[in-house]
Amino acid sequence: MQVSVVNRQIQATAADAIIVNLFEGVTTPGGATGAVDTALGSSDGAPGDGAISRLIRLGDFTGKLNEVAVIYTHGLIPAPRVIVAGLGKRDEFTADRARQASGAAARKARDLGCKRIATIVHGSGIGGLNPREAAQATVEGALLGTYQFREHKSKNNDGKAIEELIVVEYDTSKLPEIEAGARAGEIVAQAVNAARTLINRAPNVLYPETFAQAAQEMAARTGLKCTVLAETGIAEARMGGVMAVAQGSAHPPRFIILAHEPDVPTDDSRPIVFIGKGVTFDTGGISIKPTEGMQAMKADMSGAAAVFGAMQAIAGLQVPRRVIGLIPLVENMPGERAYRPGDVITMMSELTVEIISTDAEGRMILADALHYAKRYNPRGVVDLATLTGACVVALGEGTAAGVFSNDDNWCAALLRAADAQGEKMWRLPLYAEYGDKIKSDYADIKNSGGRTGGVGTSAYFLYRFVEGPGEYPWAHVDMAGMTFSNDNKGYLVKGAMGYGVRTLVALAQAV
Ligand code: BES
Ligand code: MN
Ligand code: ZN
Repeated sequence: MQVSVVNRQIQATAADAIIVNLFEGVTTPGGATGAVDTALGSSDGAPGDGAISRLIRLGDFTGKLNEVAVIYTHGLIPAPRVIVAGLGKRDEFTADRARQASGAAARKARDLGCKRIATIVHGSGIGGLNPREAAQATVEGALLGTYQFREHKSKNNDGKAIEELIVVEYDTSKLPEIEAGARAGEIVAQAVNAARTLINRAPNVLYPETFAQAAQEMAARTGLKCTVLAETGIAEARMGGVMAVAQGSAHPPRFIILAHEPDVPTDDSRPIVFIGKGVTFDTGGISIKPTEGMQAMKADMSGAAAVFGAMQAIAGLQVPRRVIGLIPLVENMPGERAYRPGDVITMMSELTVEIISTDAEGRMILADALHYAKRYNPRGVVDLATLTGACVVALGEGTAAGVFSNDDNWCAALLRAADAQGEKMWRLPLYAEYGDKIKSDYADIKNSGGRTGGVGTSAYFLYRFVEGPGEYPWAHVDMAGMTFSNDNKGYLVKGAMGYGVRTLVALAQAV
């Protein structure tokens, strides 16, 4: 989809559909929506007499968030259709709601077969957002809400795709900011969609080597530095956790290091580090999972995909800050060479781990990455992982991710970024008692703390590789419930959500 910004009145714009909006409860539309309403009114041009006003009076459209209405214009304006997007209540409005409304409206236009659509900037008028932020949200919403994954369909194209998105603004003074926001929105949305594609891709196609190839191609396009450790490099680095999980699979592991290294003042050169769990398929290994729903475990690399997407966007936006992305990649399979319950593994940090469950594999690979991160003397580290079913039970599927941290300021910065992006995160406690539950009779620690408190014990396991010499501000995001969306809603489409990309980008821009 090609995105452009033009200085025009929306009602005078030629397109297959024009998109305007309405707050819930408004009976006489104002601003650009009002101008379209008047243009669709009777010849005397009385306000409140237009097609949108009539729709409201009939009760067919109330402006609820994600509600959309289509009006046919019968030659009164150049565009044959008007799509009205509901923004919800005015006092509950946020940039994320602008993104959602834009997604719902653009998807409606796509489903109607529109090729060229024009939209106003949602939320920059009475919504009170600044024009840049509003334009970014509008463009992101349209690109995210019309995302389709058709890679594995024999007929790759259903013929319905929006080719051109025209962002229309009449006030010339806002144009430079809208241009900048639209460009940023494009970069961010492309990165989120890239993460979605990696998650949606079948696990026989996407495995550690092919994920690493995708990262190298992305890095070559964006100017990131990309280093990939293969088995020998991983073994030489003594990443015992990565090697143990990988040994049951025919697909060898990879460890990706993506580096965004702009010129920054030396007193500001400590990087932030993002780490993503990259289990390209999680069968559970010898502690094998039940059949039901196992196909969803292709998404067990959603943390890795979030880091991939965030690094792509950070490079594209030229964020003036050093950022490192670390992605350990394995496939967790049972088999004659697989690691087994009872094994004791020496990790890169030299801590020893007794394996209780081979299905607690994510923490094994993250532990080595968290230890590896110490070499950067980072100002802060965030890891994202689809780590525990317990987190999904606690916070719900598709609702929020759980966050654990050893540093209140770093955690607050992350939560602020997540909140601004509409990606819900909720802090959970890193109680020392969770550490007691993972003490082992045979090794330093064990990789499962038992049935209760599973989200806390998994986080504390990770903390054991952060604490001590070289400890850095750290936040762990358990995003197990945030992989797939079950339906089309706002800018989400059925399938991978691409959760986490926007929050990481916002955090890198903020700190
Ligand atoms: N990848 C799973 C966690 C998961 C569950 C992600 C549901 C997405 C949806 C993780 O590797 C796992 O298997 N965790 C175990 C840990 C247990 C063995 C200590 C779990 O949550 O049951
Ligand atoms: Mn598992
Ligand atoms: Zn897993």
